[in-house]
Amino acid sequence: MVKSISVIGAGYVGLVTAACFAELGHRVTLLEIDGERLNALEQGVLPVHEPDLPELWQRHWAGGRLRLTSDYEQGLDGSEFVFIAVGTPSTRNGRPDLRWVRSAARGIAEAANGPIIVVNKSTVPVGTADLVAGIIARYKRSNHNFAVVSNPEFLREGLAVFDFLHPIRVVVGSADVNAAQAVAQLYEPLGCPIILCDARTAELSKYASNAFLAARISFINEIALLCDKLGVNVVDVARVVGMEPRCGDGYLGAGLGWGGSCLPKDVRGLIYMAASRGVSAPLIRSVLRVNLRQPRMVVAKLQKLLGSTKGKTVGILGLSFKPNSDDMREASSLSVISLLQEQGCRIKAYDPVAMKTAAKLMPTVTYCADAYEVAEGSDALILVTEWDEFKELDMRRISSSMNCPILIDGRNLYDPEQMIKAGFIYEGVGRGEISRKQPKAALVKHKIQLELEAVESIQS
Ligand code: UDX
Repeated sequence: MVKSISVIGAGYVGLVTAACFAELGHRVTLLEIDGERLNALEQGVLPVHEPDLPELWQRHWAGGRLRLTSDYEQGLDGSEFVFIAVGTPSTRNGRPDLRWVRSAARGIAEAANGPIIVVNKSTVPVGTADLVAGIIARYKRSNHNFAVVSNPEFLREGLAVFDFLHPIRVVVGSADVNAAQAVAQLYEPLGCPIILCDARTAELSKYASNAFLAARISFINEIALLCDKLGVNVVDVARVVGMEPRCGDGYLGAGLGWGGSCLPKDVRGLIYMAASRGVSAPLIRSVLRVNLRQPRMVVAKLQKLLGSTKGKTVGILGLSFKPNSDDMREASSLSVISLLQEQGCRIKAYDPVAMKTAAKLMPTVTYCADAYEVAEGSDALILVTEWDEFKELDMRRISSSMNCPILIDGRNLYDPEQMIKAGFIYEGVGRGEISRKQPKAALVKHKIQLELEAVESIQS
């Protein structure tokens, strides 16, 4: 049954939600107040790098299933559902900023001209469904019924279209059973489990799910620290742990830790929610603390090998917070580069898609055309984002073009033995035993260089 659906917010969640509901055959109006973003969308230029989204958008824009507007009355006219998909960024103390949710709720109340189901798609703190219902009750201009439903997204950037159309589960939370059933029916063609619950359960489940994912990563990063000291390869340990069905495999990749627009915001949001209710949440606080330590730990590995980092040129491979995304929000590269620049390093960097965004945030970095240009003459390389193309590099060409062949593998992308054979002094995260097998020649050359620099610095 074709439904009329409105979506508020043309960010990556709103765009994916709008395009995928159009894919399911519905008529969708996307409401965006940012004129620049709206104009770009009308030209078919999407503000996010999301595989499969451009094709989906183009097909349904051309097919007339997708409409754009900045006007609430036009945007809600005839709609049975309105999905709030606006940003809820963290404030300084971790509290999610709900100003855009409040503004959307008021816009809906004042503009809706018929009964409508308001669906919170954004990740929002527990109790936000009640907040939205209160705002609508206060500002509504018609006597039509409103219902509010919590329907959190579980989309991974870079896989968001796939995740929307192939959900592991859909969560629909509301006190209004009919409204919840109506929202659930939108997802029925996807053939996945649909969990009906109250709104607060749905809201908390989203935070708990993301915090648990973050906890897995911080857990394996803590084990990796131990591996470095014990001379054990954390990748092997993670494989053993992941074979236990009660643990589940995947999401046990040690490295620079978790970034992006969701995990950091949601872990901080959960800590804030707990603290504001007098719950200390020591475990979740530690999950965040361990994560904040990772960039410093990786830079410390470089310092140990390089000796003095002042004046050295360090190459960074990958800038986005994860592969297949141009998103720089809380990307590990931001912390790593900031720490290195504080130590007086010169930074060269390459990323397949995120350099345009990164250059606005880090204008003093030298951006290169490819990984080979980054490596040319560098005193060290740090692999920060595990883009597939970095697996295809001619690593012998890379190591021989460097001033000093140090490779810090921040995502354990490479095979240590192969990197040593390619002439690198290799360090991963939690791959301790490798450091004893570094190439003598490279180490000797490096040590001689350090001695020469030390002598030069005394003479100068
Ligand atoms: C995450 C959740 O996966 C998704 O379900 C939720 O809806 C939104 O937040 P996303 O932030 O897009 O999705 O990225 P994800 O692929 O989960 O990676 C998050 C961060 O964790 C990245 O910085 C990634 O590099 C890091 N990560 C991931 C690890 O460090 N190790 C891993 O094993 C997996």
